[in-house]
Amino acid sequence: MNIMVALRDYKQHVQAAIEAGVDCIISGAGLPLSLPSLVKDTNVKIAPIVSSSKACEVILKSWHRKYQRVADFIVIEGSLAGGHLGFLLENIQNNSTQKLLDILGEVKAVVKKYEALYHQKIPIFVAGGIYTNDDIKQALTAGADGVQMATRFIATNECDASDAFKQAFINAKKEDLSIIKSPVGMPARALSTPFLKKHQKITKCFSCIQSCHVTNAPYCITQALINAVNGNLDEGIVFSGTNGYRIEKIVSVKTLIDELMEGIV
Ligand SMILES: Cc1cc2nc3c(=O)[nH]c(=O)nc-3n(C[C@H](O)[C@H](O)[C@H](O)COP(=O)(O)O)c2cc1C
Repeated sequence: MNIMVALRDYKQHVQAAIEAGVDCIISGAGLPLSLPSLVKDTNVKIAPIVSSSKACEVILKSWHRKYQRVADFIVIEGSLAGGHLGFLLENIQNNSTQKLLDILGEVKAVVKKYEALYHQKIPIFVAGGIYTNDDIKQALTAGADGVQMATRFIATNECDASDAFKQAFINAKKEDLSIIKSPVGMPARALSTPFLKKHQKITKCFSCIQSCHVTNAPYCITQALINAVNGNLDEGIVFSGTNGYRIEKIVSVKTLIDELMEGIV
């Protein structure tokens, strides 16, 4: 289960996930410094999502010092990803897969130390802008153990978002992608919708994000994301990775996986 550190009830979400029997908790949108203590005495694996080697180092050092615990794997999310981004606004523009692979090299150098310390392999997955079979091969050649993909899988039969949500990707052009300042306090990549052009009144606060306050947030991010997934794009935000405009049709997950994995053992 993916649980954002920025959630107001982060601890309760983690506890509920453990009680429900999850195998692993992955946490980004902040530094999951307390995560080892929350999964103590369980077999639940833990993995941070990082956007820099610095964040990775801070997390691993803190987990080692306080809990003598290491990450079971690491996800690096680069600035081509969809949704909330762990970068400053000025560092998001003009980015490339190469930048993600540079961060991979830096993270690998940090992780090596902890692999030696704990005598265990710590797999690293890269995310953000991975779209084709060639992208996966490039990431693996650069030393990634795997990739995490989101945007491409939205256009599958199995994705449970509404047809309108999926159709928004098929209709999208490159210029429809934009970086927004989310009420969460982080930049985020989304497809332009009429909603983003007008200010919304918050009618119900979910009290979800620590840094978001109902009095000064321009709109409720949770409601906007739910609206979009349910097909109400006029009142919704459609998060998308930088390749969202490349989607042309909806396929089955099997077809997509077969295409992505061709020639990869
Ligand atoms: C619609 C959408 C919703 C997302 N929601 C979350 C989320 O709730 N938590 C999270 O850590 N990442 C989220 N992401 C980021 C993805 O998990 C993923 O790391 C990233 O989008 C990968 O880049 P790609 O979309 O280019 O494949 C979301 C991405 C998209 C497109």
